[in-house]
Amino acid sequence: MARYEITGGNALCGEVTISGAKNAAVAILPAAILVGGKCRVENVPDISDVRILLEILRDLGVDVACPEPGVVELDSTEIKSTTPNPELVRKMRASYYLMGALLSRFGQANVALPGGCNFASRPIDQHIKGFRALGANVEEADDYVNLTSDPETLCGHRVSLDVVSVGATVNIMLAATLLPGQTVIENAAKEPHIVDLANFLNTMGARISGAGTDTVKIKGVEQLFGGTYAIIPDQIEAGTYLAAVAATGGDVLVKNVIPKHMDCITSKLAEMGAEITNFDDAIRVRSSGRLHDTTVKTRPYPGFPTDMQAQICVCMSLAKGVSRLTESVYETRFFGYCTELQSMGAEILINGKTAMITGCERLRGAEVTARDLRAGAALIIAGLAAEGVTTVRNIHFVERGYENIIQKLTALGAQIRRLDD
Ligand code: EPU
Repeated sequence: MARYEITGGNALCGEVTISGAKNAAVAILPAAILVGGKCRVENVPDISDVRILLEILRDLGVDVACPEPGVVELDSTEIKSTTPNPELVRKMRASYYLMGALLSRFGQANVALPGGCNFASRPIDQHIKGFRALGANVEEADDYVNLTSDPETLCGHRVSLDVVSVGATVNIMLAATLLPGQTVIENAAKEPHIVDLANFLNTMGARISGAGTDTVKIKGVEQLFGGTYAIIPDQIEAGTYLAAVAATGGDVLVKNVIPKHMDCITSKLAEMGAEITNFDDAIRVRSSGRLHDTTVKTRPYPGFPTDMQAQICVCMSLAKGVSRLTESVYETRFFGYCTELQSMGAEILINGKTAMITGCERLRGAEVTARDLRAGAALIIAGLAAEGVTTVRNIHFVERGYENIIQKLTALGAQIRRLDD
């Protein structure tokens, strides 16, 4: 099994360019199913989740071409099946977006339950509630979700989500796009990738308003036409590099970001002592590596993202004083990496949803195992800041969401290499 070997202690200096957003890409590529012609998507990250998704789409009959790095052209005219390959579907989480997209275009879909990072119980009851509200019959059996509809029964409707869910908001937007009538999603998620999906669909001819607020309205249209769209930069990838510099020390210009999307993260890093300068589409971070304690509570956007919990925990582990980190989206997320950080010398005490972290002078290198994508990113940051050598195993999780992480970190002066057994 491949692993990363990191020799810690180098300050990070230079420039890094952020890739297209994973969680936008994995919503926008299935949305191409709704387009009755060719669409061109730019700034697509080359990560394993995207590669799996493109394989699923090809297998369904979508004509997929990658004419240059970061660009994908899709033509969904000739889709021949509404049952995506279950083995591929089970390899990733966002494959559940195929449900909404296929339902909207064909009135049916038979999709295996998704896989992906299982750091918590991840129900999809709100997605199903939405499909039912739009008139679909939904049966869950043998690890499949089977969506069917009688002719003329699918149409727009009001859906009030019981919890703020990114996945349910995306799936209902996809499902409603080609249905007659208006759908209103209340208590919708407001993440930047929700807005990006709406912008993609509107560029193709959809009529969606309110994305980025808690009420999203979708006026159904008969068909979408082709077009070109560029995906926004990845908020969490950018946050991960910012946290890495804050923890190890250094001076890095993080390019191709939307600073507004980063406020929830940069404000905390600044509070901890990192020096942050915003430019139009870049952020400079400078840090001596000597941080001080803070309090963070994860929340849906515009709050501090749960997908940055593990990375900020590493910063807290190295900060002077006692920090308090509360998780309010996925309670069990601490268990994906805290034991590993403790084996590197971090002092973390978990009590329910809250971890108390007493900062230490230095972490020490160790053999650690990633249990999900962001846990893996955090262990890499810990390795970069630690004394000695750290080996991170289970790196397939990291490669699910970080494009060229070895090349990007090496260019910043990190000592990190990928080894195959
Ligand atoms: N929830 C329900 N029922 C549902 C859906 C969600 O109870 O039907 C609950 C979840 O258990 C959780 C909360 O609602 O407590 C929020 O879950 P959400 O649906 O927003 O999460 P998701 O759509 O499954 C996306 C990202 C995750 C990110 C979360 C939260 C994608 C593909 N995934 O997941 O990203 O952690 O939103 O922001 O967009 C990652 O990138 O590493 C990652 C895990």
